[in-house]
Amino acid sequence: MIIELENISKSYGNGVDAPLRHVLVDISLKIESGESLAVVGPSGCGKSTLLNILGTLDQPTTGTVRIDGEDISTLNDTQRAGIRNRKIGFVFQMHHLLPQLNLIENVLLPTLILNDKSQRNAAHSRAMDLLHSVGLGDRVKQHPGQLSGGECQRAAVVRALINQPELILADEPTGSLDQESAEQIGNLLSKINIEQHVALVLVTHSMDLAGKMKTKYVLNQGKLK
Ligand SMILES: Nc1ncnc2c1ncn2[C@@H]1O[C@H](COP(=O)(O)OP(=O)(O)OP(=O)(O)O)[C@@H](O)[C@H]1O
Ligand SMILES: [Mg+2]
Repeated sequence: MIIELENISKSYGNGVDAPLRHVLVDISLKIESGESLAVVGPSGCGKSTLLNILGTLDQPTTGTVRIDGEDISTLNDTQRAGIRNRKIGFVFQMHHLLPQLNLIENVLLPTLILNDKSQRNAAHSRAMDLLHSVGLGDRVKQHPGQLSGGECQRAAVVRALINQPELILADEPTGSLDQESAEQIGNLLSKINIEQHVALVLVTHSMDLAGKMKTKYVLNQGKLK
């Protein structure tokens, strides 16, 4: 999968009742399969905005986003959601696991859309394998409230992987964790990138984590450098 941003700008406000802010200014970027990239920059510089545009969760004010050559502004919401669900996995700063579901149920949420029973069974065994691989194999029936922040975040990474995405977008995935758990999550994400060739774009304040990526960009005053 290739995602291309072409001359993307994003502004908020109209200059009348809300101040006009140019958050992203004429950004062009190409993310090819299997690559790894970190975006760093001060708070409020637009990192999450950029990631949300890459993930088709938000749209630019001007410019074009292409996924595998297709201009996504020509798609409707359902088509965009379909691409997102099939090709992209998201990891956020807070794990966003649902407290009323146990781990395996949380991980399987993105697969509920599958109506084929054999696909669902395959997803279930993949979920079990993945949870084992991140050391949570014996915790699958437990609820997020019974697990540590780092354990929940590992489960959130598994959930992002469950539909076998080609790209993972991670917005400060270690931001809420202590150093040791942060390092585990960083290593897990890099391992997925290298061994499974899943492209990885992550936003982080951690120089340690940014250093694990092949390319590092600084976002400042709307520009990527
Ligand atoms: N819906 C919105 N309406 C108006 N302004 C917004 C909106 N969303 C974000 N902004 C502004 O855009 C700027 C960039 O926000 P963004 O969340 O992308 O920053 P960030 O780099 O992720 O910051 P942090 O490191 O604190 O997470 C901020 O000044 C923010 O206040
Ligand atoms: Mg942010």
